[in-house]
Amino acid sequence: MATVNHFYLNDEEICTDAPAGTLVLDFVRRHAKLTGTKEGCREGDCGACVVLVGELAGERVVYKPVTSCLMPLGEAHGKHLVTVEGLNGAALSPVQQAIVDEGASQCGFCIPGIVVSLTGYVMQRDVSIDTEGVKTALGGHLCRCTGYRSLKASAGHLQETVGAAVGVEALVERGMLPAYFQAMAECLQKIPPRRSPNGQAAPAFVIAGGTDLYVQRGEDIPEASVHVLNLHPEMKGIVRQDGAIRVGALTTFEEFAQHPEILEIIPEIQDYMFLIASWQIRNRATLGGNLINASPIGDMTILLLALDAGLVLKDGEQARATPITEFYQGYKQLAKTPSEILTEIVIPVPDASTKINWEKVSKRKCLDIASVNSALRVRCEDGVIQEAALAMGGVAPVPLLMTRTNAFLTGKPVSAETVEGAMPVVQDEIAPISDVRGSADYKRLLAQQLLMAHFAKLFPEEVSVEAFY
Ligand SMILES: Cc1cc2nc3c(=O)[nH]c(=O)nc-3n(C[C@H](O)[C@H](O)[C@H](O)COP(=O)(O)OP(=O)(O)OC[C@H]3O[C@@H](n4cnc5c(N)ncnc54)[C@H](O)[C@@H]3O)c2cc1C
Ligand code: FES
Ligand code: FES
Repeated sequence: MATVNHFYLNDEEICTDAPAGTLVLDFVRRHAKLTGTKEGCREGDCGACVVLVGELAGERVVYKPVTSCLMPLGEAHGKHLVTVEGLNGAALSPVQQAIVDEGASQCGFCIPGIVVSLTGYVMQRDVSIDTEGVKTALGGHLCRCTGYRSLKASAGHLQETVGAAVGVEALVERGMLPAYFQAMAECLQKIPPRRSPNGQAAPAFVIAGGTDLYVQRGEDIPEASVHVLNLHPEMKGIVRQDGAIRVGALTTFEEFAQHPEILEIIPEIQDYMFLIASWQIRNRATLGGNLINASPIGDMTILLLALDAGLVLKDGEQARATPITEFYQGYKQLAKTPSEILTEIVIPVPDASTKINWEKVSKRKCLDIASVNSALRVRCEDGVIQEAALAMGGVAPVPLLMTRTNAFLTGKPVSAETVEGAMPVVQDEIAPISDVRGSADYKRLLAQQLLMAHFAKLFPEEVSVEAFY
């Protein structure tokens, strides 16, 4: 018998036995008949389907915009889903009014998703509600007729209306949210937690954020048995312990990039996010999903490879640890049994003299998959490289730790000559293929350029880009 899924959809309490793998998008449009949420690509690319997901964090509810075309309904349990219909009080909300005032809507198909994302953006703490700031919110949306200039201009109006408002009370007062939001924390606290059955039933699909799985197998999942990992909050969170940062496999890209422990070792991490997916996808995509999907160009995978992460895998109560360097055995072949779940990623804390950099080149600057990506962790003393961990994606069937290049770099001075000397070693170590993301020759060129970029960024005094031309 299907388990009952209990959550709030706008101001309605919902208890449903609809299959856990059903897409939130389909439930909202077909079952709840809330057709303000639009269906565009069903692949996370257009943003037409964006809804807010509110989750209890202590006494308050934290809201994030996500693409409902990639989220399993089973994960809604205990949460508050908000569609565009749930944002309206008696009048247009200030976000909608700003869009009207700027003439930012023509056919209007993209607008409900954009309204939801912009509202989600002003609900965040510590963000600047200006034209630059709202680019984050608009990043996951495609508008085919109006264009983005007038949408960005709408942000100016929001600054006037919302000002420095934070918290649900203040936003309700300014007409940004309907009053029912104020009672939502109390409503969610009354829903008892539910866990996804693990192991015994050998589910057909294990779903984390669903951002790879639904794109690859979207037709098959809704009717299949699924293990919804996000019903297991113990697989989330980041703590520092015994010289390592332990990251729950369900930690999303955004949670990772905003965490103080991660910011301390990788201060530039938030800048990298601009080149990875969109805010709406990063609110869903997990580190664990990126590693298990085993794409040779997974952005987090390449970073974690350079960081020399350890992986903790569990099968029922049996746990084992494995280094990431032994995890990828061939194209999409993992050193893992089908029933093992990745629960934790363990990152050794680098010492103060270690520098880290990450680079990505893709056909389109934003919201695109890499042609080649790369990360470098390097420790130097007195201008000499003591340890180098260069990882590259898109140049081999697996995410590649460049062991020969790393050995070459170790013990050499930090200089343009050293980087030049490493280039033939890089070329010897990689074996890119031509595909839609670029020819093999182009990827070989990129591999060299990214090596230069790492050193030019990390050591601008010793290695300038001009030295190579
Ligand atoms: C529009 C869009 C843009 C994207 N842009 C990028 C990008 O710029 N860079 C990038 O790297 N990726 C990108 N992706 C791909 C995707 O978002 C990432 O790979 C993401 O990390 C996948 O994580 P997930 O939690 O959604 O995984 P899921 O889709 O839930 O799962 C992926 C696979 O891993 C398995 N799995 C997940 N978690 C576990 C676990 N803990 N234990 C065992 N098995 C598990 C699942 O069974 C499945 O086989 C994009 C995707 C979309 C839709
Ligand atoms: S329908 Fe396009 S992102 Fe969901
Ligand atoms: S207004 Fe038509 S797609 Fe944006």
